[in-house]
Formats: sequence, structure tokens, C-alpha cells
Amino acid sequence: MGQGPQDATGNPGAVEIAPGVHWIGALDPSLRTFDIILRTANGTTYNAFLIRGDAGVAVVDTVKLEFADEFFRRLESVADYSEVRVIVLNHLEPDHSGALPELMRRAPQARLYISTRATSMLKAVLKPKDSDRPFEYETVGTGDEVSLGNRTLRFLHTPFLHWPDTQCTYLVEDGVLFSGDVFGCHYCDSRLYNDRVGDFRFSFDYYYAHIMRPFKAHVMDALKLIEPLRLMMIAPTHGPILRDRPRRYVTHYRELSTSSLVDQIDNDERSLVVFYMSAYGSTARMAEAIRAGAEEEAGVRVSLYDLEGGETEPFVDLIEEANALAFGSPTINGDAVKPVWDLLSSLAVVNLKGKLGAAFGSYGWSGEAVRMIEDRMRGLKMRVPVAGLRLKLIPTDEELAECRVFGRKLAAALVGGEQGRVIDFSELG
Ligand code: FEO
Repeated sequence: MGQGPQDATGNPGAVEIAPGVHWIGALDPSLRTFDIILRTANGTTYNAFLIRGDAGVAVVDTVKLEFADEFFRRLESVADYSEVRVIVLNHLEPDHSGALPELMRRAPQARLYISTRATSMLKAVLKPKDSDRPFEYETVGTGDEVSLGNRTLRFLHTPFLHWPDTQCTYLVEDGVLFSGDVFGCHYCDSRLYNDRVGDFRFSFDYYYAHIMRPFKAHVMDALKLIEPLRLMMIAPTHGPILRDRPRRYVTHYRELSTSSLVDQIDNDERSLVVFYMSAYGSTARMAEAIRAGAEEEAGVRVSLYDLEGGETEPFVDLIEEANALAFGSPTINGDAVKPVWDLLSSLAVVNLKGKLGAAFGSYGWSGEAVRMIEDRMRGLKMRVPVAGLRLKLIPTDEELAECRVFGRKLAAALVGGEQGRVIDFSELG
């Protein structure tokens, strides 16, 4: 498939990825950090596309503002602005909407199509100047279509992948899915196609882990819409265009979104994971007593881990699958200890909403750690059904009995015994 003349840096011009369908995006090989949290070893691409039908031209997505010149240069090499009748924004994050205001000025006759949930974001992105005409747009949902004459754009509502506004656009006659961030990755290679670029598998999985993983349920919903499609090519907004066996990426998304532990635990069983750190053994003894108490409740499988002996990443996987978590930490210098915070701060990539949480710990004179951990868990939208347990220095036999009661109460809440008394603090704010 054709490729326009290279620019002064040797990068490609507009690239024809299917007859009458051009990549008109931009390459950003120097980027090393994206959205603050994602690292990338060789940059990224902002993929945008132009589709020519016999009743007009459509542009799907734009690029980050700093790359607008590249985008317009590629667009102008394959179409006149006067031909653009349709603009689709699959996602309004600035890396895709940066050139949108200028595109709408250059093609004022074009109609903009966005998802319903993108409306409020659109107003913030465009911020029209007084001199601008009001931006006109139409909201679309799953199954809605826009005709370009001999070609049809059909929309799929795929919220939260990666913002609430996200959608995919399917070019029906050609079987091309313009998937937005879905199936994307931060990997910059001017050869563009998955069968020509370097090995990007790590980048693909890394991107999934940081962008899609917190929204696995939404990924599964999106896959229900995508899997029945005839897929000749998937064209995401970042990274390689997936023309070689595109369906394997769909399958891979399903694998990544499916629990790997699901077959290893009885369906009826609920899991409680107890993590702790201990300075002098007191918090460890509390943890063991809590486990013993929780195990008295039928239907709960309890796991106990000393954070001193583990790595964060596998614990994050474990937490994603658990139904309840308890964190034990001593208080040192008025704070919980670093390994506990390291693990808690790694949990933004998993969906914790509705999981039960509890905190405990031994302390010397102030004991703030327990309350701080509870606050963090509530901030992560977990439910904290049993008030945290703090014990001063070395636990007595009576206090260890208190720990067992604490564990039993937590386990009872997990299997439903105490559901009536649970206050969901995460819903109050
Ligand atoms: Fe590539 Fe969520 O923007």
C-alpha cells in the first residue's frame, strides 16, 4: 500500500493503509513519559486517519497540539479541507484532540461526531474564542452510522478505554476498526505496521497494564462489540497499525482481562489477603492472630504475607483477585512503613471498588499508621467494615484474642454475615 513522499527527517508522508484510507498522524520518538505515569523507551505515535468516500472525506482523530503541523501537512497531501465532511473524535484527551480546533477552523463545513459522554470534555477542549463560530457536533452511540457514500462509519460505544468518552469507529466495507486507545501502545516506529516494526509486545502489554487494566469489565464489554466484527485491520491511536492477524490482539485482550486465578479457587470461596510489616514481631503476631480468627469463618480462604519477603508486582496481581485485604503496619515516625505505602500506591492499576479493607498494627506512642491506611483504602473506594485495630507495643494474650475477633469480624463481613452493618465510606464523599 502506498506511501507519500518522506519529509525532511526521513519520516513518511501520508501512508495509504487501505485503498482511499490514509494514516495522517504524527511520530513522537523523543517522548519518554506519557501522562506522568507511563514510561516509553522509544516514544509514541499519535495516529490519525483520513477516509475518502464518494460523498466526502472523513478525518478520524487528530494529534497532540505540538504535532499539528505534521498532521496538517499529511492531510493536505491527500485531501483539500473543502472535501472534509466528517470529523470523528474517538477520544478527547489532548494527545488526540490537540489539532481539533484548528481542523474545525480549516474545514468549517465538516460535522463533528463524538460520543455522548464526550460533550462536556469537548467544551473544555475547544474553548472557542469569541470570534469563532459555535462548534457544531453530533453525539453518537453503538450502532449509529455516518455514510460517506460508498463507505460507512459505524460507532461502538466503549467507555473508559481509556476515558469515559471513548468510542471506536468501524469502517464497515473495509473491515477496519479505528480503535482509539484500545489495542494501542506507546511504541514509535516509522514503519507503522505490526508486521514491519520492531518487537513491541512488551510495550503492548505495558500499555494494557497501565491504561486498560483498571477497567477490565469495560474491556470485556467492548470485546463483546468488537469480536463479532469482520476485522481486516485494527488502527489504534498509538503505536503500530495491526494489519497482520489483527484478531490475535483481540484474543490477547480477552486473555489479559480474564482472571488467571479463577480456576484455582472454589467459586463459593471468598479470599482475604493479610499483608504486614513488623519491626519487632508485634504486628506479625497480630497478623497471625487475625488470620487464625478469619479462618474460623467458613468459606473464606486466608493468605498471609510478610511484605519484607515479596515484590510489589505479584502482590498487585494477588490483590486484584482478592475479595478483602488487611494491611498491618507499625507506626514509625508518625507514619506507616514504606513497603506498605509502596504497595498501596501501586494499586491505581486495579479496580478495588467494593473490596473490603482493614488495617491493624502495633505502635510505640502515637499509632497513626492504622488510620492513615484506612483513609487510603477508602480513597481507593474500598469498604472498611471493621474499625482498625491498634495495639501498644507487645500484644498480650487478651489482645491477641482481640485480634482473632477482628479477623473473624472481617471474614464474617466478607461472607455476608455483617453486611447489614457495613458503612460504605467511599460512597459518602
Ligand atoms: Fe491516547 Fe487516552 O489518550
